[in-house]
Amino acid sequence: MSTYAEAIERRFGDGGPSSEGVAENDFIRRVLLRKTVRRYSDVIPSDSLLDLLVAAALSASAKSDFQQASILRVADPTKRTAIGALFPSMPWIGVSPVFFIFLGDARRLQRIGELRGKPVRNGTLEGFFNASVDAALAMQTMVLCAESAGLGVCPISVIRNEIDKVAALLALPDLVFPVAGLCLGYPQTEGYVSLRLPRRVTTHRDRYDDSALAQATDDYDRRRDALHAIPREQQRSNAEFGEAAFYGWSEDKARQAAKAEGAAFPPYLRSHGFGFD
Ligand SMILES: Cc1cc2nc3c(=O)[nH]c(=O)nc-3n(C[C@H](O)[C@H](O)[C@H](O)COP(=O)(O)O)c2cc1C
Repeated sequence: MSTYAEAIERRFGDGGPSSEGVAENDFIRRVLLRKTVRRYSDVIPSDSLLDLLVAAALSASAKSDFQQASILRVADPTKRTAIGALFPSMPWIGVSPVFFIFLGDARRLQRIGELRGKPVRNGTLEGFFNASVDAALAMQTMVLCAESAGLGVCPISVIRNEIDKVAALLALPDLVFPVAGLCLGYPQTEGYVSLRLPRRVTTHRDRYDDSALAQATDDYDRRRDALHAIPREQQRSNAEFGEAAFYGWSEDKARQAAKAEGAAFPPYLRSHGFGFD
């Protein structure tokens, strides 16, 4: 079995294509086996390495070359502690060696319009979406580059749940918003490769077809449970939904999504320059 086939099997275990015969590429193999890391050693990555990762992140593709991502590093220990204290259930946010925030920045293009005397209205849905995509692409580029340099990372979108406090701490102006934070450091733990949905659910050819979803999800739940069962005490919202005899990924995600997060984000955006028209 090629190293791709082994990596693909670990990632999907779905019996799908294994890319036998394709030339070895270390970067792709690493991506297939990548994993989120939430515990870090005390070693602080050097500033030169962080500068390199920021440069790589800002080399990501950008919609229309508008370049609407900005990266903010939270280095001030007081601010780190203040942000961490907002999310006690995720202690890695306050203590990771490095913490970046990837910002969708719809402000800069509007300011450039002002500088050039061409009125730009960028608080539109298009402006919000383009800036979000740019920031997400920049973040994922940093994620993959950091991982290939031996670092471990964890994106942090929960900061949007406390958007008013986070934005005030970081002096974010109108039209600039966090897409996600990113904890970064050298891994202290091994972690594990998280099994993904079978590719027959997440890939399509020529036409969209999700007719196999129910059966494929059941199968995925069982395979994932055999690898990493969710402990009984981690079942969500049992008071509302009851204790499940079998608690797989789909039950967990349905319960999680039914309790919508991020209620503070839309009103924050609407009162900070986005009309979404
Ligand atoms: C946009 C985004 C936001 C995320 N936000 C959080 C977060 O707030 N807290 C956290 O612990 N993990 C967060 N994660 C990490 C995911 O939980 C993780 O990627 C997912 O469980 C899949 O695991 P894997 O990346 O190891 O395959 C986030 C990931 C992404 C892409």
